[in-house]
Amino acid sequence: MANWRIKSLDSILATAEKKSLHRSLGAFQLTMLGIGGIIGTGIFVLTAEAAQVAGPGMLISFVLSALVCGLAALCYAELAAMVPVAGSAYTYSYATFGEILAWVVGWALVLEYAVAASAVAVGWSGYAVGVLENLAHIHVPSVIANGDGIIARMTLLFYPMTPELQTALQTGGLINLPAVVIAMAVTALLVVGTKESATVNAVLVVVKVLALTAFIALSVPAIEAKNFIPFAPLGTGGIISAASIIFFAFVGFDAVSTAAEETKDPQRNVPIGLIGSLVICTIFYMLVGAGAIGSFGAQPMLDAAGKGLTPGSPELVAQCNATGNVLLVCSKEALAHVLRSIGHPAVGNMLGLAAGFALPSVVLMMMYAQTRIFFVMSRDGLLPTGLSKVHPRFKTPHVVTIVTGIGVTIAAAFFPVGALASVSNGGTLCAFFFVSLAIMALRRSNPGRKRAFRTPAVWVVAPAAAAGCLLLFAFLSLTAQLVFFGWGAIGLVFYALYGRNRSNVARGEFDVHELDSDVPPTGVAPMPGAPAPGTR
Ligand code: ALA
Repeated sequence: MANWRIKSLDSILATAEKKSLHRSLGAFQLTMLGIGGIIGTGIFVLTAEAAQVAGPGMLISFVLSALVCGLAALCYAELAAMVPVAGSAYTYSYATFGEILAWVVGWALVLEYAVAASAVAVGWSGYAVGVLENLAHIHVPSVIANGDGIIARMTLLFYPMTPELQTALQTGGLINLPAVVIAMAVTALLVVGTKESATVNAVLVVVKVLALTAFIALSVPAIEAKNFIPFAPLGTGGIISAASIIFFAFVGFDAVSTAAEETKDPQRNVPIGLIGSLVICTIFYMLVGAGAIGSFGAQPMLDAAGKGLTPGSPELVAQCNATGNVLLVCSKEALAHVLRSIGHPAVGNMLGLAAGFALPSVVLMMMYAQTRIFFVMSRDGLLPTGLSKVHPRFKTPHVVTIVTGIGVTIAAAFFPVGALASVSNGGTLCAFFFVSLAIMALRRSNPGRKRAFRTPAVWVVAPAAAAGCLLLFAFLSLTAQLVFFGWGAIGLVFYALYGRNRSNVARGEFDVHELDSDVPPTGVAPMPGAPAPGTR
C-alpha cells in the first residue's frame, strides 16, 4: 500500500550523520530552552480560564496535565536521543508508521505551533493593554483590543439573531490590534533571520522566573483556607476540562527534543533538558496556582441554572462587565490582576511588564517551529517546494514564514485566547499520542538499535501517555475537537491531491537533501546559539 510507505530509519540517521550541525548545547542550555518555551501565556493568562472551568480544583488540573506531559516527555526523550534529527514527531512517525500518518502528525503540528503562536499573541495583547492602562494611563478601547465580535457578525450572515449573538455584538470588539501588531512584528523578524540567541533566551527565562517568583512570594503567604471552598464547584468533569486547557501551559518542552542535533552528548543531555524543564515548571505552576487561588479566590461564574459559563463566551464577558471585572475568571492578565487586588499594585504592574517583555519570544519560538515543520514537509515533497524557497539575502525560508505569519495574524486578530489554546492543544495531543505509539512500535521493530536513553517501564509509561492524551482530548471543548477533525479532513484531501504522488518517497528518493539548502535541517525548534547555516 503506497500510503504506508516508510522512510527508513537508517536513511534518516545516515543523512543526519553526514549533515549534522555543530553540537554546542549542554544540559543546562537545553533546560533553559525548555523553560523558555514552556512558560508563557498558559500560566500568565489561562489560569483565569482554568479557574472558570474548575474553580480551586484547577490545582489538580495542573497535576493531571503535568503528568500527561511528563509521560509524553519520557517517550520523546527516548526517540529524541535515538533519532536526533529534524522534524520531531513528524519524522518519528515517518520512520515508524509511514507517510500518511506522518502527514497527519505534521498537519496536526500546524495546529500545535501556528495556532499556539496566535494564542500567545492574544495572551500578550491582554498584558500589553493592562500595562498601557496601569503604567502609562493610556486606555485602549476594547473594540480594537478584542476580535471576538467579528465572529458574531459573520454568524449573523448565515443565522438569525439570538440573545447570545446580541450579547456577543455588544461585548465583542472588531479586531485585536495589539495581537496583530506582535504577530506581524515577529513574522518580520523571522523573515530577516532573527533567531533567539542562547543569551536572549536565558535573559527572558530569568525575567519570567523572577516574575513568577515575585508572584509566589507575595501570594502564598496571603493564602486563606476559605478561598479553597468549594474546591470543585463544577465537579470532576470541570477539573479534567481545565486540565485540557491548562495543558497549553506545559507545551513547549518538546522543543528540546528538536534541538537534539545540536546537543553535546544528546543521549544524556536531551532527557535531562526535557524532564528537567518540565519538573521545574510544574513546581512553579503549582505554587502560582495555589497562591492565586488561596490569596484571591478562583470561583467560577455560574449561569442561572448553576452551570459554569463557557470561558471567553459573550455571556461570561457580559456578566464580568456587569460585576466590574473583579473576579480572577474575568481577567485577561490573571497574575497581574491578583497582585493588584491583594495590595501589591506596583509589583502587579512590574509582572505585567515582564510578561509583555517575555511573551513575544514564545510567539517567536512557536512560529519558528512552524516554519521549520513546513520546511521539512516541503523538502520531503509533501508540500509545494516553492514553500521551502530560501531568501537570497536573508537566507531564511521567507515564503513559508510569510504564509505562516499571515495565518497566525488572522487567527490572533479574531479569536479569543482560550479557544485558540484549546485548538492548539488538540494538535499537540495528537502529536504526543503518535509519539507514544511510535516508541512502542520501534521497541518491537528495532529492538537491537542503540538506545542511550531507555524510557523506564516503557510498556506502562507509553500506554499511559497515550491514554492520557486521549482523556484530555475527550475533554477539550466540542469546538476544538471539531476544528481538529475538520483540519484533519482538509489535510487528508490535500494529501490525496498533492503529496501522495509528489513526495520524495513516492518518487523513490529516500535521501532528504539537506545539503542542497542553505537552511539548516533544524526540525521544529529554535536553535539558540546555533552556528550560521552552512557552518558545520
Ligand atoms: N507553554 C507555552 C505558553 O504557555 C506555549 O505560552
